[in-house]
Amino acid sequence: MKVVSVLPRHYSSAYLSILKKPTTIVHRRAVLPSSNNCNYSTVSPPPQKLSDNLKDLHSQLDKDELLADNTPDYVRLVLRSSVYDVINETPISNSVSLSSRLNTTVQLKREDLLPVFSFKLRGAYNMMSKLVSKMENQHNVTGVIACSAGNHAQGVAFSAKHLKIPATIVMPVSTPSIKYKNVFRLGAQVVLYGNDFDEAKKECARLSEERGLVNIPPFDHPYVIAGQGTIAMEILRQVRCVGNRIGAVFVPVGGGGLIAGIAAYLKRIAPKIKIIGVETYDSQTLYKSLKMGKQVQLTSVGSFADGTAVRLIGEETFRVCKDHVDEVVLVNTDEICAAIKDIFDDTRSIVEPSGALGVAGMKKYVTHLHPEIDHSKLIYIPIMSGANMNFDRLRFVSERAVLGEGREVFLLVAIPDVPGSFKKLQKIIDPRSVTEFSYRFNRHHNDENGAKAFIYTSFSCVDREKELKQVFAQLEKNGFEAVDISDNEMAKSHGRYLVGGASNIPNERVISFEFPERPGALTKFLNGLSSNWNLTLFHYRNHGDDVGKVLAGISVPPTDKEKFEDFLKDLSYKYHEETNNLVYQKLLKY
Ligand SMILES: Cc1ncc(COP(=O)(O)O)c(C=O)c1O
Repeated sequence: MKVVSVLPRHYSSAYLSILKKPTTIVHRRAVLPSSNNCNYSTVSPPPQKLSDNLKDLHSQLDKDELLADNTPDYVRLVLRSSVYDVINETPISNSVSLSSRLNTTVQLKREDLLPVFSFKLRGAYNMMSKLVSKMENQHNVTGVIACSAGNHAQGVAFSAKHLKIPATIVMPVSTPSIKYKNVFRLGAQVVLYGNDFDEAKKECARLSEERGLVNIPPFDHPYVIAGQGTIAMEILRQVRCVGNRIGAVFVPVGGGGLIAGIAAYLKRIAPKIKIIGVETYDSQTLYKSLKMGKQVQLTSVGSFADGTAVRLIGEETFRVCKDHVDEVVLVNTDEICAAIKDIFDDTRSIVEPSGALGVAGMKKYVTHLHPEIDHSKLIYIPIMSGANMNFDRLRFVSERAVLGEGREVFLLVAIPDVPGSFKKLQKIIDPRSVTEFSYRFNRHHNDENGAKAFIYTSFSCVDREKELKQVFAQLEKNGFEAVDISDNEMAKSHGRYLVGGASNIPNERVISFEFPERPGALTKFLNGLSSNWNLTLFHYRNHGDDVGKVLAGISVPPTDKEKFEDFLKDLSYKYHEETNNLVYQKLLKY
């Protein structure tokens, strides 16, 4: 298991002196795009009923930063943004192989090339520079504080260094050292506090109050949103809307700052361009909120795409999104991994999972969701939003990319346990290359037709649907039973490594857990086990993920059923009962 150094629960602080020299200053004047095909929308939005929170938030803006209805004038805020004090415009790269594969034109907006490797710098800097310029003199700013274990932290630290104001970043104790060291290097004070993000956030609020530090929010503030919106201004300048050819911009969504900024600007200047949000299935707060017509808080979020793992879309960002976002596409982990590979193939850059959401969503939009659109005539622009990739994750990403691309199929096949069956199976799969094949003799798999062998196999393919149909037809003809288990998470994480481990254990319960990747996690699990329960199976493989995936089998006497449920609850690790999972039933048990 990955070992993360244990840090004290109370915060340990680190100071680094702020560098004297400012970073490169490249100032560009913001201009409206000149193309005739961009039509400036002058229609005033209908008056909106705003919560007191939002009224308060909007009242922090200057009068000339507001529209007639007292909501932020995002076009004006974008045009006045100061982000070019610290960044150059990011380029747009042609994505040659994706364009030819999808028969469309794909142009990637390269936010991964910014100084802290993500767009977050734009919003953080814009807000902080406004803060400084609103003070008569910058010495009045006691400092800023932010809670983040990711890209926002680096954006705030970088901006603070440039503006020569002190910054404090609060991060959970479990934050990988690569992340807090980077923030520290950028000159911020790092406070490691709490076991999770919520505890760190509370400490951040407390410190902000106690020390009079201004809290820089990661997404839900007009200046942050406007900073992110400068991306839209650049896109229109860079791509030009010849013949209205920009079909859509694909935007990764977390708390919604990025998409709100882009949408607010584009829907005023070039309203025909579609704004498509992309979220993961396990972090779909915008998707659900749009469906319900109000902010929806998720009870938990997945951690693979950590940059976008947000439980609640912002209030201001949702206000903007509900008027301007055309659609939200949901993608899974395998599709994100495939997108990371696509981006690598075209640019030789590796983006982080959240940074690849735009490409993953665009692929789904073109290949599955909109057959009625002639994509060949349009330009699609996914935002490559960040590249702070944890190197350890690459193994997992490369393993899953082939599945996400639909270039590999996992099957569980039951064949008669008689000589010649393997050969027949191999012939059916041939000429496709077999990428995995696991079997162990097990005389206990018998039915009325005789003994059976269960095979776990995977093979490469080019046209998944078509080839799978052919293979299944052949398998059936030969009397083999097969199930496609490419979407079976337990099979992909564990089952494939456990083939042949079948046992006949009374009262066995099989549970998959997400152990936090921190010392003591295993001890806590083992200590919680009652002495009359038997640990019958334990499988773990490091996937370079934030959590350790563990499969455990435990034999629990029926009289201890309730005690066992209490154990699972007290452990407070995410878990899922796998006792009825097909892979367990067929491969691990008789
Ligand atoms: C790489 C990356 N992409 C996308 C997002 C989502 O941005 P937002 O929270 O503004 O929706 C984040 C947020 O931190 C991020 O780090």
